[in-house]
Amino acid sequence: MSAQTRLKVFVTRRLPQEGMELLQQSAGCTVSVWDSDEPVPRAELLKGVEGAHGLLCLLSDRIDTEVLDAAGPNLKVISTLSVGFDHLAIDEVKKRGIRVGYTPDVLTDATAELTVALLLATARRLPEGIQEVKSGGWSTWKPLWLCGYGLSGSTVGVIGLGRIGLAIARRLMPFGVKRLLYSGRQPKPQAQEVDGEYVPLDTLLSESDFVVVSCALTPDTQGLCNKAFFSKMKKTAVFINTSRGAVVNQEDLFEALSTGQIAAAGLDVTTPEPLPTDHPLLTLNNCVVLPHIGSATYSTRGIMAQLSANNLLAGLSGDAMASELKM
Ligand code: NDP
Ligand code: DGY
Repeated sequence: MSAQTRLKVFVTRRLPQEGMELLQQSAGCTVSVWDSDEPVPRAELLKGVEGAHGLLCLLSDRIDTEVLDAAGPNLKVISTLSVGFDHLAIDEVKKRGIRVGYTPDVLTDATAELTVALLLATARRLPEGIQEVKSGGWSTWKPLWLCGYGLSGSTVGVIGLGRIGLAIARRLMPFGVKRLLYSGRQPKPQAQEVDGEYVPLDTLLSESDFVVVSCALTPDTQGLCNKAFFSKMKKTAVFINTSRGAVVNQEDLFEALSTGQIAAAGLDVTTPEPLPTDHPLLTLNNCVVLPHIGSATYSTRGIMAQLSANNLLAGLSGDAMASELKM
């Protein structure tokens, strides 16, 4: 096959080997990679996509009209190394007839596991305890020192009982959770598995000891967790977000945490990412912030890379993708 007839693919980051090998072995494609662990600068992205038939991108790349225009009419497939697709201008992508591949399911277990770890670390104040040991603040055993909140006998509320929300619920129930509430756009039959009760959001907020956000970021969920939201939560409640940072109004969260409106928060996602080191949330002992590591296990990232490469190649050949976004 001549270089002219080969399809042009642009990959916006160095991927785990499992994905790179698949792309490199593909005879029908000429693959250019932004060969770095750091995000591609905007100007390089605009240059790299020029004339591309396929684009493999990450959640940190904003794929908007400008990028689509820069790519031009050749662009037929976008494959994202993520299940979230809020970084893609979906309406515009749809209008141009571009197919989208993504990575649902393969990261559900890793993300649910990390959410449970974050919930326990936040509720049982692990980062504070570790810091006290290192700094010499541990003087002796004290009855109320570093006390937190336990899951046994508690009510957990999950906002967005999708793939990851359900996997979180499944993992939390064996800790002795008494009631599992969930809210969203409609009741889910699969909630039966965890005895989930579908309730209005206000009920979830006022009755839950732990509020876990695992919904997608959409225009409806953007800024959902705001002053009014936190004011409905118990003062002893713990808030956890592993969905997207923009679901939370961070100024309102800071106020709720610093005034004792809620007990603590654990965030794996923020706005922006990375969160600046002088951000007010980082001054609070009752706020645990992680650097968006929900799906970060070696095997999960390898499988995500493989799936996103396969999605791209299948889309370019006009075949069914293993995971194609229904738009
Ligand atoms: P799913 O599509 O399975 O679940 C998303 C859920 O969000 C659905 O249950 C959906 O409900 C719900 N939802 C949509 N709109 C609303 C709304 N207005 N109010 C409440 N709930 C709503 O996706 P996944 O579970 O696979 O992933 C969820 C999100 O998690 C991703 O979009 C991504 O942003 C984030 N994520 C974060 C990771 C991390 O590293 N921290 C890793 C992986 C994912 P319905 O079915 O009714 O539409
Ligand atoms: C996703 O896939 O949407 C996550 O945020 C990263 O795995």
